[in-house]
Amino acid sequence: MTKQPYLAEKSPPLKGEISVPGDKSISHRALMFALLARGKTRISGLLEGEDVLATAKAIQQLGGRVRKDEAGVWHVEGAGLGKLQEPDDVLDMGNSGTAARLLIGLLSTHPVTTVLTGDHSLRGRPMARVTGPLEATGASFQMRSKGRLPLSIAGKDVAECLTYRLAVASAQVKSAVLLAALNLPGESVVEDPFGTRDHTENMLRHFGADMTVEELNTGGTRITVQGRPALTARDICVPADPSSAAFPVAAALLVPGSNVTLRGVCLNPTRTGLFQALDRMGAQITFLNERVEGGEPVADMHVVHSALQAITLEPEIVPSMVDEFPILAIAAANAEGTSRFEGLGELRVKESDRLAAIHAGLASIGVSAAIHGEALVIEGCGAGGVPGGNAARPVVTHFDHRIAMSFLIAGLASQQPIHVDDGRAVATSFPNFFALFGALGATIVG
Ligand code: S3P
Repeated sequence: MTKQPYLAEKSPPLKGEISVPGDKSISHRALMFALLARGKTRISGLLEGEDVLATAKAIQQLGGRVRKDEAGVWHVEGAGLGKLQEPDDVLDMGNSGTAARLLIGLLSTHPVTTVLTGDHSLRGRPMARVTGPLEATGASFQMRSKGRLPLSIAGKDVAECLTYRLAVASAQVKSAVLLAALNLPGESVVEDPFGTRDHTENMLRHFGADMTVEELNTGGTRITVQGRPALTARDICVPADPSSAAFPVAAALLVPGSNVTLRGVCLNPTRTGLFQALDRMGAQITFLNERVEGGEPVADMHVVHSALQAITLEPEIVPSMVDEFPILAIAAANAEGTSRFEGLGELRVKESDRLAAIHAGLASIGVSAAIHGEALVIEGCGAGGVPGGNAARPVVTHFDHRIAMSFLIAGLASQQPIHVDDGRAVATSFPNFFALFGALGATIVG
């Protein structure tokens, strides 16, 4: 398919009140839990990005009945835990690592044979981090070299229960093990010493699973799940995605004169690292109407243009903002001073090698940066000081939605326009990105 280049140019003040789409992590999980529950689950605010639509399709292939009504609410009639249908074709998870890894967990303890694949990016990402801990279930996995998709699973539901301590800070791995544990006959235990996002735990609670979460003295949590619970269909209201909110928030901070309000953003503490970091950099962000919706803390956010200072971040904060380093790098490029972000090894196995993509992208817009081991160092140019790009040397996005969006936001405040080689991937997580920025007054054109 042909690439679609985009360009963003210096913007007038961004003004308005907006809602960004539903949270991607919660949307995937809502569909998967609806599949496992008995009865009809209604989901409002579901993210209709390509990643989640791939999950919706897989849910149907596994026996769920899925329909969207005129009001935009999704209705899923579950197949039920232990009763999944064997799909008659390959499950294509598109660009989504979350969909692939969570489904591998879920399918490993159902007695069906399935084959999973994905797009070029997903077929390059490591899956052994999930199949490794799941081997104890007796399921058998066959995959390409280096643990890559396509991958086949012959699931087993008669296996030993699971006891697993996360070796990498990955909510996807934790969730895969928890989903596998659901169809095992006894008690399984998963330890997450890193404190990764806990939407699967919240969803287990919401659907009535028998589980406990203990705080570990050393930090993180231990989750104990009793297998074969009676999961009952529930209504779910998906809050706005903080990882998508990150883009209009950063844009409002960088474009002089901006004043933007975002409605109903999920502020689960396992997801708010970026907002903490921006606060320390001097960002003027106010949280209004704090409330709980669908079991998740939510608030409106009011953001105005702010002069930013450089920051040093330690590895401990990374799990709570693992997807936000591309946009934080743009904020750091517009800050006064040198920023340093530590512990970014996991960025190498995201939708692209994001550490390399950020570094190369910064170079092509005239910002000095360096990678030292797992750390990224960025020399800030000060507010409005980023030189910008040139059409002959666009930022290379590697079909990574967050790289594309981040560098387009950079172009709203740089001296010269910024070009990205391809904007198509934006639809994986933020389908109305271009329309929403147009409504705020920005010029981003394809
Ligand atoms: C996600 C977890 C994170 C994140 C991804 C969504 C999830 O991945 O990067 O976009 O929904 O569990 P890892 O768990 O692999 O860090």
